[in-house]
Amino acid sequence: MTETTTTSTSRTDSSTEESPRTDDDVSASASAPASASTSASASASTSASDSASTTTTGESEERVREAWSDYEFDGAPKLSVEDLDVFYGDDHALEGVSIDVPEDSVTALVGPSGCGKSTFLRCLNRMNDRINSARVEGSVEIDGEEIYQDGVNLVELRKRVGMVFQAPNPFPKSIRDNIAYGPRKHGDIDDGLLDRLLGRADPDKEDELVERSLRQAALWDEVSDRLDDNALGLSGGQQQRLCIARCLAVDPEVILMDEPASALDPIATAKIEDLIDDLSEDYTVVIVTHNMQQAARISDQTAVFLTGGELVEYGETDRIFENPNSQRVEDYITGKFG
Ligand SMILES: Nc1ncnc2c1ncn2[C@@H]1O[C@H](COP(=O)(O)OP(=O)(O)OP(=O)(O)O)[C@@H](O)[C@H]1O
Ligand SMILES: [Mg+2]
Repeated sequence: MTETTTTSTSRTDSSTEESPRTDDDVSASASAPASASTSASASASTSASDSASTTTTGESEERVREAWSDYEFDGAPKLSVEDLDVFYGDDHALEGVSIDVPEDSVTALVGPSGCGKSTFLRCLNRMNDRINSARVEGSVEIDGEEIYQDGVNLVELRKRVGMVFQAPNPFPKSIRDNIAYGPRKHGDIDDGLLDRLLGRADPDKEDELVERSLRQAALWDEVSDRLDDNALGLSGGQQQRLCIARCLAVDPEVILMDEPASALDPIATAKIEDLIDDLSEDYTVVIVTHNMQQAARISDQTAVFLTGGELVEYGETDRIFENPNSQRVEDYITGKFG
């Protein structure tokens, strides 16, 4: 583990609003709607059984043991988080979180509303930098490289670590333009006016990339004959797969998903789940979900966060669901609180 670094985002303003979008995240998928992670939007769409968004009563005073989040796996971790703390002004939202995530796998983050799941996710591509009051301490490494150090190129980082939000957020542009947006910005496809004037534009390359990304997101067959139609005309489930395709178009290594299926019907949800399963062969997927069945179905490992922003238990999904060490985790996953 490299030396722990501390990064403090601008603290001059303690407002809790996200700062306006800047162009440091041209990876199209990284354009968060301002409300993407508010607890209100999240709890509004949770299932009936876990709709009590603020109920964290019922948790005992059980002390967390480090061994409960010791998860051993083969190979080097893709993501390595060490002693991560996040503060919003004086509020301590995440406390001493350490977790190693294996490559090409699905990691589910679960826990009651407000326990810091979205906050944690946003640390993985430094999206919290955009929240004025947020201060992040600790270390996050990708392939052993610290992302919280001076000189990290945030555009490049968010290209490697893409994000998909709860509410599908396609741009009000054509399906094709949604997909090609990121690669054009990153210069992977030369398609600007200048490129066209200089004869550098490569429409075939763009076509290939659009098709490949849409196929990967299991959307191609539904949209191949209307690539120039506005993306806002797609159904919610299609829009979400489009957002996943947009994220894939810039060739990420890690894909962060914050409750990507919670606004969708069961059929659209099943498609997203199948897709996540396929993606985990080539990408490291970290997904927040309120749906315990979903976490159990699609993830290889599960991290349970509980009140106070603590990571209480982390390990192989089957073990967490069948035989958790923590009584609080058992109570949470069996629906006794949360
Ligand atoms: N931009 C922000 N400014 C100030 N406080 C915030 C901000 N975002 C989150 N918080 C606070 O940090 C804590 C963790 O919030 P977070 O959104 O990470 O929880 P969550 O586990 O994702 O909840 P949910 O399941 O409802 O989405 C909460 O107390 C929340 O109020
Ligand atoms: Mg959240």
